[in-house]
Amino acid sequence: MLSNLTAQAPDKILMLIEEFKADTRQGKIDLGVGVYKDPQGVTPVMRAVKAAEHRIWETQTTKAYTGLAGEAEYRSALASMILSEVPADRLASVATVGGTGAIRQALELARLANPDVRVFVSDPTWPNHLSIMKFMGLPFTEYRYFDAATRGVDFEGMKADIAQAAKGDIVLLHGCCHNPTGANLTLDQWAEIAAILETSGAIPLVDLAYQGFGDGLDADAEGTRLIAARLPEVLIAASCSKNFGIYRERTGLLMALAENTAARDLAQGSMAYLNRQNYSFPPDHGARIVSTILTDEALRADWAAELEEVRNTMLGLRDQLATDLRDLSGSDRFDFIAHHRGMFSRLGATPEQVATLKTDAAIYMVGDSRLNIAGLNRDTVPILARAIIDAGI
Ligand code: LMR
Repeated sequence: MLSNLTAQAPDKILMLIEEFKADTRQGKIDLGVGVYKDPQGVTPVMRAVKAAEHRIWETQTTKAYTGLAGEAEYRSALASMILSEVPADRLASVATVGGTGAIRQALELARLANPDVRVFVSDPTWPNHLSIMKFMGLPFTEYRYFDAATRGVDFEGMKADIAQAAKGDIVLLHGCCHNPTGANLTLDQWAEIAAILETSGAIPLVDLAYQGFGDGLDADAEGTRLIAARLPEVLIAASCSKNFGIYRERTGLLMALAENTAARDLAQGSMAYLNRQNYSFPPDHGARIVSTILTDEALRADWAAELEEVRNTMLGLRDQLATDLRDLSGSDRFDFIAHHRGMFSRLGATPEQVATLKTDAAIYMVGDSRLNIAGLNRDTVPILARAIIDAGI
């Protein structure tokens, strides 16, 4: 039986991790997978996470199963962090296996509710969005998003394409820190998108994987909050991988805002059912770390302060890279790097130029020229800037 399997193409982002490891050159630079690294190149365990784990170790008396939806305390603490004001009578939520699990469960839920559902996704989007939908056999269509000339959002194109989504379709939006481009909507633009969805009855699925990495914890959730306040039905897939630095704990949350309490209860039951079908109980350790931090004033303040340090480090690197490239190129054509937000920017290089960076300068980025800003430090920025110019980008 197993010999009947066909070989799967490796994931383009994850493949880079192995390629980078195998490269023996001194001074190689990894700007591939979206993982934060401090100036020493380490992905640290955050202080509050260590403290929370210590507290859990001291106080936890059982490892018996939690509920199918995960712990209520985790779900409510994270929902408050995301939405600020939580409409409890409309909110269904389940803990999931990371943000990817939340996306998968959201799509499963949408298909359960509407077997003819179509999904509208940004062009480009996180490649795994597409991969999951292909695997599920879900029809999807891309909406214009990235303006290759300005490296900003093609908002007119986006609006026109999103307006094609019909009642019962899903429109997948990146809540902040668009992956892979780094180009984001303004709050006014979010309002316009909300108005389009209000008219059509298409349902937004907000992928919120980088809250706190762009303009701040609250600022990064503003678009999601606006959508949640205005539309009757909203799905939100949140990840704690990046903002709590607990990548391997697989800590996510799927939220569904329903029109009324009866629909909320149906959604809650269906989401718990989907957890049961796919993996039974969601992982608990990461969720417990998050709820321990968010419900303790001192831990929360320390975590938020460290997250701000992370965010400001990335902003500093963005400014430094944009400045170095301005100096080297004698033009402002790389200024978009300073305006983008989050871990990523799409440089706008060709696949050949990306390959040249790898071959000639041992600099690794995703083939679409997405670079992970957090993979840089003060010393490697000038090296990257020089290599970008040398590669003719
Ligand atoms: C990324 O886009 O690099 C991250 O979200 C990691 C992943 O799973 O692809």
